Amino acid sequence: MVTVNHQRVPRKRTYLMCSPEHFAVEYAINPWMDVTAPVDTELTVKQWDRLRETLVQLGHEVHLLTPERGLPDMVYAANGAFVVDGAVYGAQFKHEQRAAEAAAHRAFYESQGWRFIAPSETNEGEGDFAYVPEAHGGLILAGHGFRTELPAHAEAQEALGRPVVSLRLVDPRFYHLDVALAAIDDANIVYFPGAFSAASQKVLAQLFPDAVIADDADVMAFGLNLVSDGLNVVLNREAAGLAEKLEAVGYHPVPVELSELKKGGGSVKCCIAELRH
Ligand code: ARG
Repeated sequence: MVTVNHQRVPRKRTYLMCSPEHFAVEYAINPWMDVTAPVDTELTVKQWDRLRETLVQLGHEVHLLTPERGLPDMVYAANGAFVVDGAVYGAQFKHEQRAAEAAAHRAFYESQGWRFIAPSETNEGEGDFAYVPEAHGGLILAGHGFRTELPAHAEAQEALGRPVVSLRLVDPRFYHLDVALAAIDDANIVYFPGAFSAASQKVLAQLFPDAVIADDADVMAFGLNLVSDGLNVVLNREAAGLAEKLEAVGYHPVPVELSELKKGGGSVKCCIAELRH
């Protein structure tokens, strides 16, 4: 019997997170948000802290952004910017409820000496942008259809000097790219085809013939909203089926409990921005 031995190699990452001290569901800007469903803030903070500890235990560096009162979605730190090769393309939120988050992210990056490029187009940072450094020489995948607008894809390409592939999202439940697609290592991705237009599915199949394909149950459990270091894949505990699929091809799934943050329409990846030098 021949067993396939996949050599998965982790790479140390630098992340940015923001504590959910002020998390609440006070408005509904995606189909997961129900303003009448109670949120347990203490439990939210506990679950978020476990996520942060998990990343640190895996050897990664986690920077913290100071949460601000009146910005209940600030915990979803992935939306504040998109960082590639040491350059930061800032966010410009679609909904006014989140607009002020962009300045907090900008102040963080500027205080740390990062090169910041202010956007003039609507885009929600890593919510709609993913980077795959070893795919086709370094490829940015970008979602549009619900939040980020198409002109922002061209703006990001000019700002960051990497090719941007536009993908159209078609299901309002999967309103950001990062709930339907994720980089699992430097060259490969996992995605749920049904979240994309037929043409975009074709583009993904051409660019990533070896991608891991997720199903309905995986995407509904927020499994695609994951963070991987190339070996360890931190993902929502509910996504047990996806964890199995990833394990079968040599990754090491690390399940975390994030039930409270799902009420805002997010999970692991939404809480984590990657700072790429
Ligand atoms: N309530 C937030 C919103 O609708 C959730 C953002 C989730 N973040 C993400 N990167 N998908 O904007």
